[in-house]
Amino acid sequence: MDIKNLIKKSIEAKKNAYVPYSGFRVGSALMTKDGKIYTGCNIECASYSPTICAERTVISKAVSEGDREFVAIAICGDSGYTYPCGVCRQVIREFSKDIKIVIVKSENEYKEYSISDLLPHSFGPEDLKKK
Ligand code: THU
Repeated sequence: MDIKNLIKKSIEAKKNAYVPYSGFRVGSALMTKDGKIYTGCNIECASYSPTICAERTVISKAVSEGDREFVAIAICGDSGYTYPCGVCRQVIREFSKDIKIVIVKSENEYKEYSISDLLPHSFGPEDLKKK
């Protein structure tokens, strides 16, 4: 798995962030099980609540193109190590229980987590099948 390349792509993806209200850019890069990489950024809105985070942008792009199996996601924000919000943690969890989550400060400074690190005792699609 080429994590270094994924990290670079998440940093590059920040340049397209549309953030006229917060000025806080976030880029994300998502790797599929076949090694394909999607990128995404945060997109804000004048009425605020429709704002979409970089992580959900990139997952939406991949799923809408037919990809659903992911092995890693890199996230790079404007505040050193930027961790995904709660909503994005749940959306990442929707598609994978063992995805590698890479929090990127710079090309050479990053930390890796599992979904259970960031969303312990999570609820997911399997739970609905246990009924
Ligand atoms: N944001 C993300 O894109 N991802 C995160 O994980 C945290 C927050 C965005 C949403 C909003 O555009 C800006 O950062 C400030 O909250």
